[in-house]
Formats: sequence, structure tokens, C-alpha cells
Amino acid sequence: MTTTTDIAGFVHRFEPGSDPARPPLLLLHGTGGDEADLLPLGRALAPGAALLSPRGRVLENGSPRFFRRLAEGVFDEADVIRRSGELAGFVAEARRTYGLPAPVALGFSNGANIAAATLLLHPEALAGAVLIRPMVPLSEPPETDLGAKPVLILSGAFDPIVPAENARALAATLERAGARIEHRTLPTGHGLGQADLALARAWLTDQRAPETV
Ligand code: MLT
Repeated sequence: MTTTTDIAGFVHRFEPGSDPARPPLLLLHGTGGDEADLLPLGRALAPGAALLSPRGRVLENGSPRFFRRLAEGVFDEADVIRRSGELAGFVAEARRTYGLPAPVALGFSNGANIAAATLLLHPEALAGAVLIRPMVPLSEPPETDLGAKPVLILSGAFDPIVPAENARALAATLERAGARIEHRTLPTGHGLGQADLALARAWLTDQRAPETV
């Protein structure tokens, strides 16, 4: 059963898992999405995983997002820092409430960008991440030790929002911080396609939750 409720100021949905070997997924929607958006994707990509899906708290002309931007691809970095702290606080409280190990983030577009920022600023919040069409969220990333956390980055070769070198720079930053990066560039644009789903599903099948929370 899925419930919608509020923890640490985040409206969210939580769906308990049935397979404790699967890490929970933290589902992070794109601009204009909400907490319901990625639940079907989470169920399809990681059957049996617990799903935790918050709604972004920033509104841009009525569209939920996870942080403010000044223009497309130009971020309010002070807000990125503040909001990734809020998201890490939500994850910590949701873990206590629902008895969960650290989740793997599955983020699309703006959700992938807040996941990347959260990895860099609050690495303890996440066990790893699938970042679909992410870009560099912070122009001066902090020194971070990601301790071999696994990260799958899925970029689009013809993405009009994320230049190829920007996606490569994000992969390099996370790799320098110690993450185990798999970066795939697909012959597509910013939208999510079947190839993303197949790659994300296979990658998530290899992830294992710790035996104790
Ligand atoms: C962002 O603002 O995070 C990126 O430009 C992607 C988007 O949400 O459109």
C-alpha cells in the first residue's frame, strides 16, 4: 500500500518493500513532476524494493522542483546547497520512521541534479544513485569522500539541456570523490527511453542492501 504523508516538510509517498535484499529507492522527479510520478518506474526497475518518493518543495510557475534555477541550466547554487541539506534531513527522518537502510537515489533531470548535489554535500544520505540526464549542480564541488558508492549516469548524446562535456565533468567529479561510476551516453535527447530503463534495471539488479539497517 502507498501512503502520502509529510516528513520534515516533504509531502511524499512511501511504498514498503517485499525484498529486503533490494536497497530502497529514493525517487526524485523532474521539473513539473510530483511524488506519484516515478512510482511505476521504481516498481518496474526494482521489483520488491521499498520506494520513497518526495515532492520537490520549490515551485517554478506552479511546477514542483527540488531547487531554484535562474534560467534553464543556470542554478541558484545557494538554494542547491540549502535544498540538498533539507533532502538529506528528510532521508534521515524517513529512514527512522520506516526502518530503512540508506536508499539508492533514482533521479531524472532536476531530480538527478539534486541527487548529484546530495551525494557531494551529504554522502551519508545515499547508498548510490542512478542519475538520468544529470548536469553539474555546483560550480565548485566540495571535497567529498564517496567511499566507492556506485553511481550510474545515463546521458543523452543529443540532449538540448545538458551539453556532453557538462555530463562528463559531473562523472569526473564524482569519480575523483571515489564513486564507482558507470557513465553511458545514449543516442537520444533529454527524455527517458527504453534504453534507459533496460540499463537502469540491470544496474539496480546488482545492488544489494546491507543486512542490518
Ligand atoms: C534543472 O533545472 O535541474 C535542469 O535544467 C533540468 C530541468 O529540470 O529542466
